[in-house]
Amino acid sequence: MLSVENLTLKYGQSQILHGISLTAEPGKVTAVTGTNGVGKTSLLKAIAGRHPYSGGTITLDGKPLNHLSAFQAGRAGIAYVPQGREVFPLMTVQENLETGFACLPRSEHTVPPHIFDLFPILKDFLHRRGGDLSGGQQQQLAIARALISKPRVLLLDEPTEGIQPNIIQQIGRVIAQLRDQGDMAIILVEQYFDFMWDLADSFVAVQRGAVSLAGRAGEIDREDLLARVSI
Ligand SMILES: Nc1ncnc2c1ncn2[C@@H]1O[C@H](COP(=O)(O)OP(=O)(O)O)[C@@H](O)[C@H]1O
Ligand SMILES: [Mg+2]
Repeated sequence: MLSVENLTLKYGQSQILHGISLTAEPGKVTAVTGTNGVGKTSLLKAIAGRHPYSGGTITLDGKPLNHLSAFQAGRAGIAYVPQGREVFPLMTVQENLETGFACLPRSEHTVPPHIFDLFPILKDFLHRRGGDLSGGQQQQLAIARALISKPRVLLLDEPTEGIQPNIIQQIGRVIAQLRDQGDMAIILVEQYFDFMWDLADSFVAVQRGAVSLAGRAGEIDREDLLARVSI
């Protein structure tokens, strides 16, 4: 289980996260939601070792992850799918997938076939450039690239943003499949309310860098949550 306790984060002098706590369990989707600018991406970057945090702790199965680099976080089993996807546009799909090998020993440098069961389109497009894919296909590639490292924690930053509805559905099915495998903790940052409401096992609403509401599906009130994440 991933546990974040009392996390604080700053950009220069301005404090963005004011003591965020959450947990993410294997086989469960933890949704983190909130309007633009509340600090959702900053939270994921801190967990993924992409931005230093100024206080608090992050632990995985009880072991502290003390201010890891992105590489160390990857080695520890944390994979991050960035907001906006960050697919390498001039590299092929195959090459984009291979960048996922960075945290793996050389003996494991093969793309597992189940990646193409999850995203069949990527198999057909292996030699296309990343930049020539549609936004939805790029999102699938970004998730596939993150899965190459066989993560224990998958961080998804607004995977439906700017994506056509049919691919949103496919991405939802993939997230549900990954959850049902039972061994991966998934943190889904999402503003598309119905999408995350249908998928998540627990919810964390963030307002101005702090948790304003958190609870499990079934315990949390839909309208209360919706009110906190609407502008
Ligand atoms: N690299 C940065 N330098 C300075 N301020 C930043 C940086 N990245 C984000 N911010 C600011 O931090 C706040 C939270 O941003 P972010 O974590 O991206 O929020 P969200 O993902 O919820 O939209 C915003 O006010 C944003 O302008
Ligand atoms: Mg963001």
